Amino acid sequence: MRLRKFNVLIIVVLMMISCVQVLPPTLTPTTTVVPPTKTATVSPTPPPVEADAGAAGIGDSLYPGLGNGGYDVQHYTLDLTVNDVSTSNLDGITTIEARATENLSSFNLDFIGFKIDTIVVNGESATFGRDGQELTITPSTPLAKNQPFTVEVKYQGSPESTSSTAIPIQIGWISFSQGSFVMSEPDGAADFYPVNDHPLDKATYTFRVTVPKPFEVAANGLLKESDDHGTTTTYLFETRDPMASYLATIDIGDFNTETMESARGIPIRNYYAATLPKDVNKPFARQGEMLDYFSSTFGPYPFEVYGALVLNVQVGTALENQTMSVFGNDMIDPQNVKETELTVAHEMAHQWFGDSVSVADWSDIWLNESFATYSEGLWIEHTDGRKALDEWIKNVYGFVRENQGRMSPPGKPPADDLFNAGVYYWGALGLHALRLEVGDETFFKILQSYYKQYAGGNAGTADFIAVAEKVSGKDLGAFFDSWLYSDTLAPIPELGLRTK
Ligand code: TRP
Ligand code: ZN
Repeated sequence: MRLRKFNVLIIVVLMMISCVQVLPPTLTPTTTVVPPTKTATVSPTPPPVEADAGAAGIGDSLYPGLGNGGYDVQHYTLDLTVNDVSTSNLDGITTIEARATENLSSFNLDFIGFKIDTIVVNGESATFGRDGQELTITPSTPLAKNQPFTVEVKYQGSPESTSSTAIPIQIGWISFSQGSFVMSEPDGAADFYPVNDHPLDKATYTFRVTVPKPFEVAANGLLKESDDHGTTTTYLFETRDPMASYLATIDIGDFNTETMESARGIPIRNYYAATLPKDVNKPFARQGEMLDYFSSTFGPYPFEVYGALVLNVQVGTALENQTMSVFGNDMIDPQNVKETELTVAHEMAHQWFGDSVSVADWSDIWLNESFATYSEGLWIEHTDGRKALDEWIKNVYGFVRENQGRMSPPGKPPADDLFNAGVYYWGALGLHALRLEVGDETFFKILQSYYKQYAGGNAGTADFIAVAEKVSGKDLGAFFDSWLYSDTLAPIPELGLRTK
């Protein structure tokens, strides 16, 4: 502290001296006011800046170590050469284009495992240290506020299996007998690339992935090129729109692909693991209709393309990776299209709620999961009518009532069980209750204005409530308190639903 003040003092003194030295001869040395137009010529090289270390966390209320402060990433280029698909041993170069939001003597990235060979910042070799998931990089020259900078990290090894405090399953880059896949929510991205790992810092992505034949690569966005090198193939994917880090996916395997277009013209490309039965695509046949239906309900589909990727491995879940939702084989039952379509609709609805409008803080997760879950109900209503939706709501209400002890109120999930049933089902009931409170027309206007206002960015619970209050003209404070934060499930009297 004292040292820094001392340095500042020296800088100020040096600047004064240099001013005096280069003052135009017509000015007497006693002049204290230098005309502002002259200052540029006074110090041709900018004085050294006072710079601090960037924060090791972005300020998430549940996961203070996630993300980092002091800079804003615009673009990631992941250049990965997978040497052995069975172990995912790879050589990686991740290049990050960012902008400093403060003067930085050092800054952090989140990165797990691998051996780091070199880190280069703005073309100059940088020093670095590692402590758990925190990678601290000290550039040879401090970074100045508002200036763009480039970081290149070269690394090698196999992604480590990562566990998250948030969710009791393995996340990140996962290798299995037929290839590998990536499902990262909330903090698995650091398992394969150095990253500012928080949805608050979205960026666009380039993926250049080289795999041995006969493997193929699928990733977010559009396939721009594939280069045949004889024994290997390089696939180049680009995302048009910024994306939260946890939605980045690179999936390696042998796939059957299927392309189509929605009636409104949204391109669809689906990937099915080649070892899956041929009829695996049945539950995806109505994705075009779903995209158009959700577009007319929420607002235009946010991205350049959509599609599903089905793995032939039991994952027990599915994830809404941007432009490409990934499903475990146990989520898809071609013999039960109606039920599977609800999962398909759920992941698709996340493209609006979660992917385009992303949480500002992980405690806002109900803004993703309750909206996607309620969208399952909306798809039921679209295909089978309002009565069918009411039946579904009654079932969900019964489920939440019976299992309340095992879930959190939607607005206060615990850090060690982020994706508990409360943020899905309890919150979906809350959205239906909101619809009954304000009426259908106002309810859908709320969803549309909320989406429109926050598309491509981030929103928190207070932002959604503000939109709901503005659009409805009602004070909804007590309503949202009872649905989001109360430990007791609120009644839905219109459907005769209450806890006792
Ligand atoms: N967001 C997923 C869903 O649609 C659930 C989920 C959270 C998940 N984290 C995950 C799935 C990690 C796979 C891997 O409900
Ligand atoms: Zn979900």
